[in-house]
Amino acid sequence: MNQVPSSRQPKRVKAKFIGPFALVLAFIMCVFAVAIYGIEARIRDRDLAERSTAVANLFAQKLDKDTNLMMAAMRALMTNEAMERALRAGDRAGLARQGGELFARLRDDHRITHLYLTRPDFVTLYRFHSPDEHGDTIARVTLQQAHERQAAVHGLEMGAMGTLTLRLVMPWRRGDALLGYIEVGEEIEHMIDEIRRSLSVDILVLVDKRHLQEPQWRRGQDLMNRSGAWERFASHAVQAQTTERLPAALDDSLLAQLLAGRTAEIRDGGRSLHLAVVPVEDAGGVHIGDLVVMRDISALEATFQWSMAAVLLISLLVAGGVLGMFYLALDRVERDYRRQHDLEHQLLRLDTEHRRILQMEKLSALGTMVGGIAHQLNNPLVGVVNLAQLAERELGGNGQPGDPERTRELLREIRGAGEDCRAFVKRMLAFSKVSCFESKPTPMADLIEDTVLLFRQTESKHLPVEVRLSEPTAVLTVDPVLIRHALFNLLVNAAQATGDGGAIVITLEREADTVSGLPGWILAVSDHGRGMAPEVMEKIFVPFYTTRSDGTGLGLPVVQHVALLHEGQVTVSSEPGHGTRFAIWLPERHALPPDNEPAPT
Ligand SMILES: Nc1ncnc2c1ncn2[C@@H]1O[C@H](COP(=O)(O)OP(=O)(O)OP(=O)(O)O)[C@@H](O)[C@H]1O
Ligand SMILES: [Mg+2]
Repeated sequence: MNQVPSSRQPKRVKAKFIGPFALVLAFIMCVFAVAIYGIEARIRDRDLAERSTAVANLFAQKLDKDTNLMMAAMRALMTNEAMERALRAGDRAGLARQGGELFARLRDDHRITHLYLTRPDFVTLYRFHSPDEHGDTIARVTLQQAHERQAAVHGLEMGAMGTLTLRLVMPWRRGDALLGYIEVGEEIEHMIDEIRRSLSVDILVLVDKRHLQEPQWRRGQDLMNRSGAWERFASHAVQAQTTERLPAALDDSLLAQLLAGRTAEIRDGGRSLHLAVVPVEDAGGVHIGDLVVMRDISALEATFQWSMAAVLLISLLVAGGVLGMFYLALDRVERDYRRQHDLEHQLLRLDTEHRRILQMEKLSALGTMVGGIAHQLNNPLVGVVNLAQLAERELGGNGQPGDPERTRELLREIRGAGEDCRAFVKRMLAFSKVSCFESKPTPMADLIEDTVLLFRQTESKHLPVEVRLSEPTAVLTVDPVLIRHALFNLLVNAAQATGDGGAIVITLEREADTVSGLPGWILAVSDHGRGMAPEVMEKIFVPFYTTRSDGTGLGLPVVQHVALLHEGQVTVSSEPGHGTRFAIWLPERHALPPDNEPAPT
């Protein structure tokens, strides 16, 4: 059995594609995960940035709100005529009497910590929050600006002790006359607590040490009973804080980073903190300190991590699903591919087998042919040798008399055997000439008549031959010599198979090919002779196959060869004991119209 070459082994489709596909999928998944991480991180950063901005906005709002409150209180005070008279007269006792109660109410209800009345030359006339201190000159920015603009001015100011105070200063005028200045102030620490409560952030109030003297600052802390830290940072003093314990990671270097405008995330006792800074400027636009905003982002981080884990899990599931589906599809393709490959392989094997059988048939036919020739030549040659020996003996010698008459007879027989050989060789030569094919338009009625005439001359039984032509003028483009030869062979065979008296019938009629449906003609010879057994019929077209002692077995192979040369075919039907019909089918396309000039046969 033939082996299939190894290069034709089926390829492993799955192994070839699944790896690259998995890599591409993993890459897409990574890109997707990174994109989702980027989006999530941006959302988180924006949320954190908004919270820092919210602190700055809320702080500014609270400053505005308290300024408005102070403005209202100030205007209420300025409607007091008795107070105005006391201010004009520099009457400190009158001022205390008129404004003392209002200041006490403002201090208790609205955390107002400072209330001054100052003369137009900036000398303090009366400090409601510290009545004993007076007569000093105030040189604060807010008072200077109120003087220059002759309008209300407000803003943050840092005191010598580091306290941050919101101050509102307003000139007190009556007509064109400037009576002095009224100033209200409040410390802002309470705002920090309010912001912490509103926005859930811790705040650290830092004051730049360049604007402070340490001893004074410490005295202020003692006086106000505060627990600020001077040493914690090199550049800033901690003025106030909403949380008792500051994160250990918040050191000078981290603070420098925050002051440079960057944000930071640190771990502190199991919490994640996000840190940012909001600068604080005083009324004169001087950067006096900063608010460090600390937000606990542990929950935000947990949500972020959870959503990232969920995204990764879903991506993995989707990728797994896609990979699985792709695997199944590839599996199917591979199975189909293998099936097709097996089929091809099988066909190839069948083809090889078929060729081998054909080869064997050819060799067998050749063997039969050689055997046939040997047989045909051997019989007469054996006769020649034997007869020659006998003739030698009849010549006499060794004292024996010869018999010339017997010798002559033997020589005649030798010549007869030789002639048989020559006749056989002649037939062989005729057989080989069959392939010289030359077709031309031939009137079939004439051709058949000529052949029957020839047949009658050679046939001794004088069997009747009947010719039936469906179209007597039919002209077919055929090789007349070959067709005549084939018809003659069929007639001879029919005669040989028929006993005395049996008729032979020749027919010519139109008939399409049963397989291809092509139009054509059937030239048939029927007899009512002995017919053929099926096993004989199987072999009749094999050269040299014969059932007759004097036959060569070349008659029917010649008929078949002639039919094939005309692109036709020979069919046979036979019934043992009843007769045989040989039919040569010739295709129509060789035929010409009846009025064409026919070629002489
Ligand atoms: N009309 C027929 N009726 C019965 N048998 C036939 C008929 N024609 C052919 N045969 C059988 O077919 C065999 C082969 O015929 P074929 O013409 O090829 O050779 P042959 O007649 O035996 O010898 P050859 O024709 O060469 O002298 C014959 O020997 C015979 O047995
Ligand atoms: Mg014959």
